[in-house]
Order: sequence, then structure tokens, then C-alpha cells
Amino acid sequence: MNPNKALWEKGDFTRIAESMRESGEALVESLGITPGLQVLDLGCGDGTTALPAASRGADVLGVDIASNLVEAGNKRAEALGLTNCKFQEGDASDLQALADDSFDLVVSIFGAMFAPKPFDTAKEMVRVTRPGGRIVMGNWIPNDPTLVAQILKISSSYSPPPPEGFISPMTWGVEEYVIERFTSAGAREEKISFLRDSYTFRFPAPPSELVASFRAYYGPTMNAFEAAEANGRAADLESELEALFNEQNESPSSDATSIPATFLRVSVAV
Ligand SMILES: C[S@@+](CC[C@H](N)C(=O)[O-])C[C@H]1O[C@@H](n2cnc3c(N)ncnc32)[C@H](O)[C@@H]1O
Repeated sequence: MNPNKALWEKGDFTRIAESMRESGEALVESLGITPGLQVLDLGCGDGTTALPAASRGADVLGVDIASNLVEAGNKRAEALGLTNCKFQEGDASDLQALADDSFDLVVSIFGAMFAPKPFDTAKEMVRVTRPGGRIVMGNWIPNDPTLVAQILKISSSYSPPPPEGFISPMTWGVEEYVIERFTSAGAREEKISFLRDSYTFRFPAPPSELVASFRAYYGPTMNAFEAAEANGRAADLESELEALFNEQNESPSSDATSIPATFLRVSVAV
């Protein structure tokens, strides 16, 4: 089994995605979606950005490596009556089912960054975007002080070292690497732009319960806890994560969590 696929099918990312819906809506609102726009959402999960794009009239294809998330996305589209939004399985680094120049907009929010072959992934994103179209990626930033980079940093100190040759998904949060990958895929450097943006995780329970959700449903955190358990360190990992989530929580209510996290927003005009 492909380990990248196994990682994302292991948990149930829909349970985490529920805390990201508002920011997904806001991000899509900023994209200037118009009716009939042909949109590919890569690493779409259960449709946090695909569904708002479709509800603004775009024709949306969501592609994700995890079959459980593809199924969840199709069910959500059906429940919303969005016949212009379809989800199908695929690998961002090898989009063989998709023809060249098919999309006006390729969007990938914390999605394609997790595909293991970044140069192939950039090439595929450029290939399926029509000339005059654009690519928008949201990528977490390594060593950033906000939530997601810190979860990964803490988790990695409880996990075995990655296999040799592994390229961290977080490298997509470094401008030089992004430029290198997209220019080698044929994009022009002056057409690549960056800005810092923010996503807020909102959860209707205290931070410790959001940590529990990550532990139960988020593949990378599940793996970190499995490794920590094997070394008798699961309680330490839990308390480090709880301290992080509590420290970053901005909700004024003790029954709710609201944690902003900074990401690198990449735009490529093709
Ligand atoms: C952090 S989740 C983000 C999901 C969604 N974009 C969102 O904003 O909710 C990462 C997603 O990337 C998907 N993914 C990971 N590797 C992939 C690959 N090689 N090709 C396509 N999707 C991939 C995972 O299955 C998962 O749905």
C-alpha cells in the first residue's frame, strides 16, 4: 500500500476539517470565483474549499488520494445539491486521468504539499492549468511559531526519523523551494507571488478536546502517538500538545477553541 495514501486513510480527516470550514469559506471568497470557472481542488479532503467554490457557480473537481475523503466529499456535495462538484481519487504527483490545460484555477490548500514528489506535483499542477489560468496553494511554514508547524515540530520529536530521501511537506512553505519547483515545471518566476495568510481552527469544546480529536483522527498525530506509546511517552506528548493548544487559544469562552495558524499563500499565473 502507498504509505502516503495509508497515512491519510488511517484517520478521519473530516473530524478535523470541521474546525476549518469558516476559514475555507473565507479563502474561497477571496479567490474571485465566477460561474462556470473550471476549478480543480487538489488534496481536497472532504471539500472545505471545493464546496464553497461550487456554491459560487464554479465547476469543481476535487481530487484526493484518500478514498474515505473522496466518499465524504461526494456525500457532502450531494447533501448540498451541488451537481457541479465531483470528487475522485487521484495522486497530486501523477494526475494521469486529467488532460493538459483543463482548469482555469487549480487550488490546493494544505493538500498537494503532502504529496511525496514535489517536483512532479508542481509539474502536474502547471500541466493541467490552462494558459492564462492560475494556481493557488496554501502551505504550512516550517518553524513558524503558530499551531500547525508547532504540532509537527512537537510530534517529530516523538517519532522515528523519516525514511532516507523523504522530503518534508513543510518545504512547500519555503519560497525558494516553491520557486525552484514551479520554474522547473515551466512557470515564470515573475509570475509566482507569495503572501502570509491565516486559517483559524474553531472547535466547540476546550483545547484539550481538540488535541483529543487530532490524536483520534489526524493520521500524522495518530502516528506520533503510536510511536510515543511504544516508548512510554504518550502522556508527555499529550501534555506538550495540550500546553501548545492552550497557549495559542484565543477564544474568550472556556468551552470553545479558536486558534489562528499562519500559512504561505502561493499564487502562480500560468
Ligand atoms: C491537511 S488535509 C487538507 C484537506 C483539504 N484541502 C482541506 O483544506 O480541508 C491534506 C489532504 O491532502 C490529501 N493528500 C495527501 N497526499 C496526497 C496526494 N499525493 N495526492 C492527493 N491528495 C493528497 C490528504 O488525503 C488530505 O485530504
